[in-house]
Amino acid sequence: MSSADEAKRKAAAKAAELVTSGMRLGLGTGSTAKHFVDFIGEKVKSGMDLLCVPTSEQTRQQALSLGIKLTTLDETPELDLTIDGADEFDPSLRLIKGGGGALLREKIVAAASKRMIVIADRSKQVSVLGQFPLPIEVIPFGLEATKRRIQKVISAVGMRGSPKLRLNAKGETFITDEGHYILDCPSGSIAYPDALANGLQNIPGVVEHGLFIGLAKAIIVADPNGVDIIGELG
Ligand code: A5P
Repeated sequence: MSSADEAKRKAAAKAAELVTSGMRLGLGTGSTAKHFVDFIGEKVKSGMDLLCVPTSEQTRQQALSLGIKLTTLDETPELDLTIDGADEFDPSLRLIKGGGGALLREKIVAAASKRMIVIADRSKQVSVLGQFPLPIEVIPFGLEATKRRIQKVISAVGMRGSPKLRLNAKGETFITDEGHYILDCPSGSIAYPDALANGLQNIPGVVEHGLFIGLAKAIIVADPNGVDIIGELG
């Protein structure tokens, strides 16, 4: 296991300590959340009663393979806790998510949870968001027009760079679990995340963007020296 992966596992193990019997849990997506789902599988195997909502088809498959009991937000509209990874986080607990393409379901699940706690290795910590290109989930219809409006909004908040259609490993257009496309916006730095989020939300054709603002209550961040908590776990 690489040292980054060990740190991800350490953060996930710390988050697993927050899980108690009877909880309704949101299960995140990505390589860090995958470790957390493994820990949940162990808890379920040892008899803990948990009901979970996965944030992607990928996580659903993993959870099913571990015998984790799943539900939906239709049957269980409020969750106690969601644990998920992030591509970046800043000192105000604002996140960029969506590197794995699951940002829409991730945001819906996080918003339905009393607490969202992020698990991450130290490489995700930044002072200003934006080194990671911001993913924006869009409707396929009207793609070019939507892209132009996004360009106007990102330029208006002082970001350089242009939205790029995400492709999969085969070079085909990446399709999200909800059948949408993703535009990745490289910028270097996002000086005004709140203004950017507001601007993007008002564009017809934008389904959701990867800025998670006001959702995470705490970040569990790990590195070879140990685990830090930023924010409040309780
Ligand atoms: C999935 O869409 C993302 O939001 C992930 O949660 C995020 O990319 C973190 O992934 P890793 O844990 O693999 O870095």
